Amino acid sequence: MVTPIASRYPKTYAHWQRDPEGFWREAAEAITWFEKPKTVFDAKAGVYGRWFPDGVMNTCYNAVDRHAEGGRGDQVAFAYDSPVTRTKRNITYKELQREVSAFGAILRDFGIEKGDRVVIYMPMIPEALVAMLACARIGAVHSVVFGGFAPKELATRLNDAKPKLLLTASCGIEVQRVIAYKPLIDAAIEMAESKPEAVILFQRPQAQAEMKKGWDWDWATLREEALKANKTSECVPVKATDPLYILYTSGTTGIPKGVVRDNGGHAVALKWSMENMYGIKEGEVWWTSSDIGWVVGHSYIVYAPLFHGCTSVVFEGKPVGTPDAGAFWRVASEHGAVCLFTAPTAFRAIKKEDPEGKFVKNYDLSKFRALFLAGERADPDTIKWAENILKVPVIDHWWQTETGWTIVGNPAGLGLLPVKHGSPTVPMPGYDVQIVDDGGKPVANGTMGNIVVKLPLPPACLPTLWQQDGKFKDAYLAEFPGYYKTADAGYKDDDGYLYIMGRTDDIINVAGHRLSTGGMEEVLASHSDIAECAVIGVADQLKGELPVGFVVLKAGVNKPHDTIEKELVALVREKIGPVAAFKTAMVVARLPKTRSGKIVRGTMKKIADRQPWNMPATIDDPVTLDEISVALKSKGMAG
Ligand code: COA
Ligand code: AMP
Repeated sequence: MVTPIASRYPKTYAHWQRDPEGFWREAAEAITWFEKPKTVFDAKAGVYGRWFPDGVMNTCYNAVDRHAEGGRGDQVAFAYDSPVTRTKRNITYKELQREVSAFGAILRDFGIEKGDRVVIYMPMIPEALVAMLACARIGAVHSVVFGGFAPKELATRLNDAKPKLLLTASCGIEVQRVIAYKPLIDAAIEMAESKPEAVILFQRPQAQAEMKKGWDWDWATLREEALKANKTSECVPVKATDPLYILYTSGTTGIPKGVVRDNGGHAVALKWSMENMYGIKEGEVWWTSSDIGWVVGHSYIVYAPLFHGCTSVVFEGKPVGTPDAGAFWRVASEHGAVCLFTAPTAFRAIKKEDPEGKFVKNYDLSKFRALFLAGERADPDTIKWAENILKVPVIDHWWQTETGWTIVGNPAGLGLLPVKHGSPTVPMPGYDVQIVDDGGKPVANGTMGNIVVKLPLPPACLPTLWQQDGKFKDAYLAEFPGYYKTADAGYKDDDGYLYIMGRTDDIINVAGHRLSTGGMEEVLASHSDIAECAVIGVADQLKGELPVGFVVLKAGVNKPHDTIEKELVALVREKIGPVAAFKTAMVVARLPKTRSGKIVRGTMKKIADRQPWNMPATIDDPVTLDEISVALKSKGMAG
């Protein structure tokens, strides 16, 4: 039995349980409102209720102006550190205010008004963060698309968000290559039914993009002119319930889901999390190594650290190869970061190159207090390794794009609870997390089931999907009435600790990136030689999971199998993007199915993962599973 003696967690969680509205009313005091909310929660509004419905505020004001004008003007807001370009640049809160205000004015000149959408397809450079904050400043809704996605994925998002403007840069920089963005942008716009009215492009010296006159606008020129003319923009008052951004995330089909984040609840919950979940004091140096294309980047590179008046390190590099496996320690030590937040896969990559953690010894990490991991299951081996080399608490926490902040974690600020490897610990205030069977009945402790959260979800969680209340209800609320379905499976132990074991849908997690195998299947099925297919996520030591595709050819196709397999790998890269990390396709004579025709992907995965498996009682032909084994072995995989 674990007894959390010193932690204030039990008291805090009990406070929330007793008086949820009082709890969030108090938390809301920590942000600046133009009009303080009189109502904390309106259960009748929206799909399941809305937070702070009559509150008026501005996210950018809380992130930037409040600090620029409130004594932090000369403190660094963003510390940009880019080993891939050998550049470093510090931007103070005062400078950030000037940049964001000017860029807001530029957006205004392009006709962007409150509620208009702006898509941002950019690498990890300060301009991208300025653009996000400028949108927030004028009440526009940004939608950031990760640079590793292909034009088709960008086009799908353009069609859904219908932005007036697209913001981009001439290139992204990976360890070994420069990726020109302009051809990708042009292809996406060509494909999209809903085209933006203009493109603003930031030219980087590593690749110059050719500009189309009257359509593409040069970022640096616009900025220079705006600053010279002293152009500024005001922080527009928005309702707490107005959307701040849309972030697309993989669903069960090739069509991603547009997760909506509102302004007020987001600021309240994220501000609360910095002190209580992460144990960060205002003004400290905080570092999240992720990308602004993901929710972790939105919440903990851009918004939360700024709400808290911190310095946020913006890292354009990788844990290995930029230039070596000591990059994380170099950055943490040079900037004096007190914490690092990243995905476990980054640590597996470092461990692989520097198993003894020799690089750590070269750096002064005396200020470094804790490592936070999220985005995928943190395997106990990696946690132990990190604890051992860093000698600080390593804290796993579980959340999703949909929630925007921790569902289950170990609250450093309230006092850490004893760590149990393999568990992200306990629910944060706001979340009543339960484990239920497929019929919605609670299961006993220790029993695996569906992880659900009792409605209402706390502030910052998605109120709906972009202009799709129906889809939101169907995808998340319909299966377990009164609860939000996380689509994760797991169990609770007798101390109330949660264990998150994997998804209940066809989402896989590749290097901390969330991807849909259904989406990949749609791409494989579009190949003219393919009759049917199945994609599964196979366990991988570095990336957690890797997608593997099995395809059945149409009758009469007699092309060599390896030619088709290569075409399929190229097709997924072309249609979804390199981020899918789809490198293995194999032709099989048929797919293993139940008698009712359902492909037994779960059993196929167990075979590929060398896990014990039982013959499904309803299997149509047991030999088909042997054939999967043989196919895997022919590719040097398990089976
Ligand atoms: N733009 C274009 N391409 C990109 C990209 C971007 N922003 N990000 C990744 N890619 C490409 C990579 O170059 C790679 O291409 P390749 O197939 O030609 O090698 C491919 O997409 C897969 O990328 P990734 O899965 O990141 O693999 P990697 O081998 O480049 O790096 C890790 C592996 C573990 C070092 C890396 O994934 C990492 O640092 N992960 C940290 C996790 C993280 O930030 N998660 C975000 C949520 S917290
Ligand atoms: P994303 O929306 O990209 O953040 O991915 C969310 C999914 O990643 C969750 O539904 C989980 O499946 C997985 N995930 C995130 N964090 C954790 C964690 N700490 N432990 C286990 N799985 C996690």
